[in-house]
Amino acid sequence: MSDIRIRPAAPEDAPAISDFLRELAARGKRKSPSDVDFVRIHYIGHPDRIACSVALVAQGHILGMQSLKHARDGNIYGVTQGWGIIGTHVSPDAARRGVGRALFAASRDAARRAGVRSIDATIQPENAEGLAYYEAMGFRDYRVSGGAICKCYELPVDM
Ligand SMILES: CC(C)(COP(=O)(O)OP(=O)(O)OC[C@H]1O[C@@H](n2cnc3c(N)ncnc32)[C@H](O)[C@@H]1OP(=O)(O)O)[C@@H](O)C(=O)NCCC(=O)NCCS
Repeated sequence: MSDIRIRPAAPEDAPAISDFLRELAARGKRKSPSDVDFVRIHYIGHPDRIACSVALVAQGHILGMQSLKHARDGNIYGVTQGWGIIGTHVSPDAARRGVGRALFAASRDAARRAGVRSIDATIQPENAEGLAYYEAMGFRDYRVSGGAICKCYELPVDM
């Protein structure tokens, strides 16, 4: 898809994001809550936010969202303090059209600006598309946590 635009998520995007998170949940691709308040609190307005980006097409329809947060001391994921923690959610109607790739380019730039050099992605082992996506973005396995596979992306030294 050539006309994908990326911008920071705003509070008024929450209903549209919630809609496709519900679609992912209905297809068994999401277990966390998908309601509008959850989106506002855990993604768009989260105090540890480095970036929360949305992908849109020209008509303004939101196709995906990627959240990048600071791993704070004692975070529930057990991720090393100072790393980033990433999560990616693309509407099932827009899958495999480059939305995730475009979102990660923006998140990687945001990580660099924030001085974050390593990013954790935690994926359930049965989530083949999530594993393939992060592998394609340059993430590599580095540990297993509670049955989930944790992958790490190291920002290139010249970034
Ligand atoms: C995983 C997910 C984020 C991928 O987003 P996407 O917009 O479809 O990804 P892209 O089209 O940008 O694909 C980038 C690359 O990832 C890989 N990839 C993506 N989806 C894939 C799939 N279903 N099977 C194999 N490889 C896949 C490919 O290498 C692809 O490059 P290519 O199309 O040129 O071969 C999306 O499918 C999704 O939201 N899934 C549900 C939620 C989820 O699992 N999130 C990740 C764990 S938090």
